[in-house]
Amino acid sequence: MANQTNDKAKALLGWVDARFPLTKMWNEHLAQYYAPKNFNFWYYFGSLALLVLVIQIVSGIFLTMNYKPDGNLNAYHLPAAFTAVEYIMRDVSGGWIIRYMHSTGASFFFIVVYLHMFRGLVYGSYKKPRELVWVFGSLIFLALMAEAFMGYLLPWGQMSFWGRR
Ligand code: HEM
Repeated sequence: MANQTNDKAKALLGWVDARFPLTKMWNEHLAQYYAPKNFNFWYYFGSLALLVLVIQIVSGIFLTMNYKPDGNLNAYHLPAAFTAVEYIMRDVSGGWIIRYMHSTGASFFFIVVYLHMFRGLVYGSYKKPRELVWVFGSLIFLALMAEAFMGYLLPWGQMSFWGRR
């Protein structure tokens, strides 16, 4: 039974490969390209940082669709921006999970990037000839901190309000 399923999967892959170089691309770009032998666990975090970046951009775009950047107080004496976040949490379908993906993702971004920088320090990835990669990484890190700070201000809650001073 398991063998039959395996044969069918192979046949399907063969059908695709005859029309589109899927296995060739997989091997050349992912599975079999030459890479230094000393790569290890710590080298995962660069691609993970890229993955988190994509998650943040996509979830952020969806949050933007229902968010209102307005500091004026509404009938409930709450900033309109704050109410927009409550609206996302309670009324927008799936809004709560998109928001939690974005806020948890922001914290994970830092965890992943710190592990990535730790790798750089431990293995001397900042040394010649990679100095510019490190400098560019430091600039990315500054941009990341600015982005996270400004994102934290958007709900315009008490912590955003007092955090900006
Ligand atoms: C959005 C943030 C970032 C992304 C998406 C990212 C992505 C990557 C990726 C995919 C690699 C290759 C794989 C690996 O070594 O893990 C890499 C390498 C590297 N990254 Fe980052 N990175 C980010 C932030 C940073 C920061 C903040 C620093 C340092 C301040 C940094 C320094 C480096 C260095 C020095 C290398 C080269 C490692 C080597 O060739 O030995 N990166 N990065």
